[in-house]
Amino acid sequence: MKQSQAALVTGAGGALGRAIARRLAADGHDVAVLDRDADSLEQTAELVAKEGARVLALTTDLRDPAAIEEAVDRTATELGPLRCLVNNAAVYPSRAFLEVPLAEYDEVVAVNQRAYWVAAQAAARHLSDVGGGTIVNVASITMHGGWDSLAAYISTKGAAVAFTRALARELGPAEIRVNCVSPGAFPTAAEEIHENPEAYQRHVLDHQALKRRGQPDELAAVVSFLAGADSSFVTGQCIEVNGGWVMS
Ligand SMILES: NC(=O)c1ccc[n+]([C@@H]2O[C@H](COP(=O)([O-])OP(=O)(O)OC[C@H]3O[C@@H](n4cnc5c(N)ncnc54)[C@H](O)[C@@H]3O)[C@@H](O)[C@H]2O)c1
Repeated sequence: MKQSQAALVTGAGGALGRAIARRLAADGHDVAVLDRDADSLEQTAELVAKEGARVLALTTDLRDPAAIEEAVDRTATELGPLRCLVNNAAVYPSRAFLEVPLAEYDEVVAVNQRAYWVAAQAAARHLSDVGGGTIVNVASITMHGGWDSLAAYISTKGAAVAFTRALARELGPAEIRVNCVSPGAFPTAAEEIHENPEAYQRHVLDHQALKRRGQPDELAAVVSFLAGADSSFVTGQCIEVNGGWVMS
C-alpha cells in the first residue's frame, strides 16, 4: 500500500497556495488545504482531488492560534502522517507607514508571522514523531529593497527568512528540513494593490531578466522540490523565484 505523505498548505484559496496544493498532490502528497475563505477553498479542494489525492479542506482563521493547532492535528489524524507544512498565507494592506494603525500592524503580524510560528510548532511535533519532514515558508521579493506603503508586510517577510534559518538549525537533528521561497511578482489578487496595472506590468518586465510574467505553477514546482525527497540535503535556504529580478 502507498505510504501517505500528507502536506498542509495555508492560504490555499489564493492563486499561489492553490498552485502549490495542486502540485504537491500531483507529486504524490495527500493535501490539507487551509484558508479563511470557504468558497475559494472549496474550488482548490476540487482541483486537488482531480489530481488523485485525498484532500481535507480546513476553513480556518490563522489569527486564532488554537484553530491553527487544531487544523495541524486534524491533518495528521485524518490524512497523516504529516510530512510537510507550507506556510503560505499572508495579508498585505497597503498604507503609508505613518498612517498604519497599530491594530492593522498587529493583524499583519498575526497572519504573516505568528501563524507561521504556531503552525510550524504544531507541525514539528508531528514531524519529529515520524522521523522528519519539511517546512516551507513563503517570503517575498519586497524584503530585499522595500516597497512603498507595505512596511508591516515587508517586515514579516524578512522575518520569514530569519525564522527559516533558526528553525533549520534547531530542527535539523530531528531530520526536519526548513526552507523558504521568495516569490517575485506573480499575477495574483495581490497585484490589485497597485493603482496602475499597466505601469506595474512594465515595471516588472523592466526589472526581470526574463521578459515574461511568472506563473503560479513555476513557484509551486520549487515549493514541491523543497517539500520532497529530491531536496534531501537542502535546509535553511531561501530560493528566489523571480525571473531574475533580484539575484542572490
Ligand atoms: N503574488 C505575488 O506576486 C507575491 C509576491 C511575493 C510574495 N507573495 C507571497 O505569496 C503568498 C501567497 O500570495 P498570493 O499572491 O497567492 O496571495 P492571495 O491574497 O491570493 O492569497 C492569500 C490567501 O491567504 C488567505 N488568508 C489571508 N488571511 C488569512 C487568515 N487570517 N486566515 C486564513 N487564511 C487567510 C486569503 O484568504 C488568501 O486566499 C503570500 O505569502 C505572499 O506574501 C506573493
